[in-house]
Amino acid sequence: METIIIDGKKISQDIKDELAVKVADYKKKGVEITLAVIQVGDDPASSVYVRNKKRACEYIGINSKSYELPTETTEEELLQLIDNLNNDDSINGILVQLPVPDHIDEKKITNAISPLKDVDGFHPYNVGCLSIGDKGYISCTPAGIIELMKRNNIEIDGKNCVIIGRSNIVGKPMCALMLRENATVTVAHSHTQDLKDLCKTADILIVAIGKNNFVTSEYVKEGAVVIDVGIHRDENNKLSGDVLYDDVKPHCSAITPVPGGVGPMTIAMLMNNCVESVNILNK
Ligand code: GUN
Repeated sequence: METIIIDGKKISQDIKDELAVKVADYKKKGVEITLAVIQVGDDPASSVYVRNKKRACEYIGINSKSYELPTETTEEELLQLIDNLNNDDSINGILVQLPVPDHIDEKKITNAISPLKDVDGFHPYNVGCLSIGDKGYISCTPAGIIELMKRNNIEIDGKNCVIIGRSNIVGKPMCALMLRENATVTVAHSHTQDLKDLCKTADILIVAIGKNNFVTSEYVKEGAVVIDVGIHRDENNKLSGDVLYDDVKPHCSAITPVPGGVGPMTIAMLMNNCVESVNILNK
């Protein structure tokens, strides 16, 4: 069977190019889009993500305003900054790069961002909207996975989908999105029994378990679509996912590689949310 290698690098590039056209049209009408990017501390991985987000903004024509705050920043100071940005009409979206230092309550921060500017889709209001099928910002990685499937003409309607992992930023919103696309969804987690047998029932298997090379061909039904959300770096800086790619690939009708699969989609969908903010804020 010929396996489709889902090309997240190309699809994310296509999306960014489409968004650049939209942003240019908005500019002609005098509408500017500005994303506020906040990083507290200097975690190296976060710095890479933040830099890539700012680069994507620049590529698309979105203004980015950077707030690089020292680790010692207090919760009150961060909340004050968010409040100022919430009330600043020139700001469309607010992103606080996670994790924040331990002395800051992540939940308080997430909840303080106006749901109308919550381009990460993490605020309980937006999570609720997704859950009941109302319009709102959708968490970027799950939204990117839907986009990867749609742009490869992978049918979701009526399919059995198993998601491994129940995190707030991937597993749970992924479940809501697949339901919205009319899949029959099962969410597996660390207490799930007979995980292999369950995964074998999946037409679409979405793996966000956070364990390197965990899913082997024994978990995969012949002809299934396998989406790998994991990202792991070995001592030689080589990247791998939650799926043992070479073992699983021959059994799939389609599979996402790591790198170049789900990863690049997160920023593309963040940019999509920034462009969507124009409608959400009624600018
Ligand atoms: N840290 C890891 N992933 C993300 C993300 O998607 N958004 C933010 N704000 N922080 C993150």
